Amino acid sequence: MPAAYDGETVTRRGLFTGGAMAAGGIATAAFALPALGFAVGPILEDAAEENFQDVGPEADFNTNTYVSKVISLPESEGTGEAGKTTIYLRRTDEKRDTDELGQLYIAISTRCTHLGCPVRYVTASERFICPCHGGVYSFDGKVSGGPPVRPLDRFETKVDRGRVLVGDRFSLNSKLERKKPRDPSNHLDGLWQYLYPSRPTT
Ligand code: FES
Repeated sequence: MPAAYDGETVTRRGLFTGGAMAAGGIATAAFALPALGFAVGPILEDAAEENFQDVGPEADFNTNTYVSKVISLPESEGTGEAGKTTIYLRRTDEKRDTDELGQLYIAISTRCTHLGCPVRYVTASERFICPCHGGVYSFDGKVSGGPPVRPLDRFETKVDRGRVLVGDRFSLNSKLERKKPRDPSNHLDGLWQYLYPSRPTT
């Protein structure tokens, strides 16, 4: 072997080159594997069983305004009052609601998508207002002002024997396309969505 002593099977240069390449491979994997896990993990998640809660008869709701209801968050089971949250519900207005979510009833989360403060629906202005940093959302929950990064989250809804049921939370991008639930401040448009994995348990 060139540049080797008698009996050597690996030169010093070869040993250092191989060692440097191995160290480079380990360093690259240390960055790449977690990123890959974040990107692919949510796709492979098992679909958790949905929990639906009765929030009242269909007669309680209309297309013109929201009605507030209190539900228990499935992820906070066993935490008593702390595990409850207020949501806003109304019936879908076919002329006004142009999204393609296909829900007969719209159940909107009160958790601001900026940093999570509770928003309030103001009937006179048909807006959801966040008191913390001035976030404003339109009648369908889209951002119309302030720092929130995406529309207000919603909950699955269905009707069973004249009663309205509310299920799991889901998030939306700016086109009101359904996405897996995300934390406040997580963007859901463009490449940003891949930086924020789904967090269904929060
Ligand atoms: S938490 Fe709502 S605007 Fe900041």
